[in-house]
Amino acid sequence: VSKTWANPEAAAATAGPRSWVSYGIDLHLDLAGSRVRAGLEAALRDAVRTGRLAPGRRLPSSRDLATDLSIARNTVADAYGQLVAEGWLEARTGAGTWVADRPAHVAHLPRRPAARPVKQRYDLRAGVPAGSAFPRRAWLAAARAALNSADDSVLGYPDPRGLRQLRRALAEYLGRARGVVAGPDNVVICAGFAHGLALVCQVLGARGGTTLGIEAYGHLLHRRITAANGMRPVAVPVDERGAAPTGLDVPGDLATASGLVLTPAHQFPLGMTLAPPRRTAFVRWATRTGGVIIEDDYDGEYRFDRQPVGAMQALAPGYFIYAGTASKNLAPALRLGWLVVPDAMIDEMLAIKESSGCINGALDQLTLARFIESGGYDRQIRQSRLMYRRRRDRLIAALHRQAPAVRLAGIAAGLHALAELPDTESESDAIARAARHGVAVDGLAAYTAPGHERGPALVVGYGRPADHAFTTAVGRLCAALADSDQP
Ligand SMILES: Cc1ncc(COP(=O)(O)O)c(C=O)c1O
Repeated sequence: VSKTWANPEAAAATAGPRSWVSYGIDLHLDLAGSRVRAGLEAALRDAVRTGRLAPGRRLPSSRDLATDLSIARNTVADAYGQLVAEGWLEARTGAGTWVADRPAHVAHLPRRPAARPVKQRYDLRAGVPAGSAFPRRAWLAAARAALNSADDSVLGYPDPRGLRQLRRALAEYLGRARGVVAGPDNVVICAGFAHGLALVCQVLGARGGTTLGIEAYGHLLHRRITAANGMRPVAVPVDERGAAPTGLDVPGDLATASGLVLTPAHQFPLGMTLAPPRRTAFVRWATRTGGVIIEDDYDGEYRFDRQPVGAMQALAPGYFIYAGTASKNLAPALRLGWLVVPDAMIDEMLAIKESSGCINGALDQLTLARFIESGGYDRQIRQSRLMYRRRRDRLIAALHRQAPAVRLAGIAAGLHALAELPDTESESDAIARAARHGVAVDGLAAYTAPGHERGPALVVGYGRPADHAFTTAVGRLCAALADSDQP
């Protein structure tokens, strides 16, 4: 039986379902069979959660509502009792039942900007590697081998710092491939860079820090994570040679920063490598002030025309938190990242991580450890590097041919490039034209801190499309950019 607790007009108009007429709201109840009470609870909970029943509103007495819905009074009383226990309703003895006030911190949580549904057929937004390149078979083989040989104890609560097997494998890999100075005890496994950044902010905040420098171009999400974890994000300027250390020595917001987040190997999203004298200048700042440099090495392995630039961390490991992620080399879905934390900070980091209640699952950690140890990770990176290099070359050639007024920058490395549009062009027009050609792409403005706007540009990710769709995706983007005289 489906019943509607409706406003009087609706009830009169439909004359079908029973209705309770003292409220001006609709309450749809599925009162079938033995689930009458559960249905009533769910409908009331939903009405309170969505605001259709506002805080402070009085509910009908259990007797009235039971009569209205032709159900037992106890059923209503039990449902009210349950919702009082859960905090949705409040009961005042002898006075009735009200919708409870929601705690302010729940009601006023900042809303996440609505995720834009991507309707376009071809997705050239940055940040995600090719799903089609995920090594499904090798990953499954590593998972099977790892689980088969794992001790039962692996199925208990995992070590908060991460499984030792994985920390050992990563310390070896990072030393060999990225020049990072790390022992297994410096490695902390986290749920991607996003989680690592949150942990770093909490550690710096617990040490009395208030501000964190973040490159003026980057993911706005990282700024939000910083603020949500108690630190004020302050923009570090970036020019053609990468992040600029200029603001660090003059009085101002940056001078008091307790840490700086940098992308030295491949600035995201502008794409340059941090100039060597600047590396030295940032290290000098850290050693002089005791500030910490968070090295976000999100795609350091992908350098196409010469050897990857090694991690900066080795210059002064005691002043760096090196951060890596499986999001580019494997898949963001794994939510696996790692921090290399100096000895002097590791205990604070672990205490904060443990009390955050967020610990990575053991099975994916075991699998990744096995995947690294067996050489699968290196192989995956070598193959992906070749694939992305080919994709990058196709993008360069197609743009050169079809839209020569567009200048590509940041092409030496990574999974994305910056397509700088002529100054007379509007970024949003270019995005709209691309959409009309079936291509989703982001503009640089979406990655820019306020006050640091540059000329119009698109951030073109060449990771996402499957191989068979890549040429068409790029062809359509080029056609859209060549079409610049159309509104
Ligand atoms: C600059 C930068 N840092 C880090 C990451 C990885 O973030 P996560 O490990 O949270 O997926 C990305 C991925 O897009 C990135 O672009």
